[in-house]
Amino acid sequence: MTGKTLLPNRIYRMDAIKGLKRIEDDSVDLIVTDPPYNIASADRTTMKNGKPLSTMKAWGHWDCFHPFDYDVFLMQVISECYRILKPGGALYIFTAREQNGFFIRQAMARGFTYRNQLAMVKKNPLPSFAKSNYRSAFELCMYLTKGKPELFNFVSQAECKNVFHYANTHRKTQHPTEKPLELIKLFIQVSSNNGDLVVDPFMGSGTTAMAAKELERRYLGFELEHDYLAMARRRLKGGTRKTATRRAA
Ligand SMILES: C[S@@+](CC[C@H](N)C(=O)[O-])C[C@H]1O[C@@H](n2cnc3c(N)ncnc32)[C@H](O)[C@@H]1O
Repeated sequence: MTGKTLLPNRIYRMDAIKGLKRIEDDSVDLIVTDPPYNIASADRTTMKNGKPLSTMKAWGHWDCFHPFDYDVFLMQVISECYRILKPGGALYIFTAREQNGFFIRQAMARGFTYRNQLAMVKKNPLPSFAKSNYRSAFELCMYLTKGKPELFNFVSQAECKNVFHYANTHRKTQHPTEKPLELIKLFIQVSSNNGDLVVDPFMGSGTTAMAAKELERRYLGFELEHDYLAMARRRLKGGTRKTATRRAA
């Protein structure tokens, strides 16, 4: 571990892996995160039909890896998350469906206990313009623990099913992959207690931080892009304005 101690209730503009390496072993109660899925194509990142995309549309640059690099990246995320979690602590991690088999095998090889897959079903998925495949209407979140789970605050039969339905209207910011606050709050409520430390290495618009704050948990996280970090900080201060970013991230 190197560098100054990281303080809770902060989001640092820092690479996630470097940031995670600065967190002590066995020190975190819960991790809730939504890393890049590696589904953006290289073209999608900057140009469309030969024209540069606006900053918000050109979001793919952080989501575009060579497949081998992506595997290494995921393994680093798994390894660091395992190291920093307290025994019994939980990891909730959204993953691309294409990656789930690889992800679960690697996580179990590292020592995680596989607990469940949680489906986030979109009530209003994007229409299919090409009409050449099924519309993409759900995302999956893996639920794992470091050994036997330390706690599971069962909320209700209705809320603790592994399928959750959400409409896109949950959005509070212009982050392209903002997750529903209520869903993240449920994960935090189920797998942590007041005052616990919740880490998100890929904060984006700060949904995990907001959820932790509203539930009186401490949070800590990282985000590389200046504009997203500004969104997250504004949100945490109480501004929910859907402001477009002005700078190329
Ligand atoms: C899928 S989004 C997370 C969205 C978030 N769940 C929300 O509700 O807003 C992933 C985020 O990780 C950030 N990111 C990508 N690579 C990163 C890295 N190496 N270190 C830190 N942040 C990174 C991206 O800028 C992006 O905002």
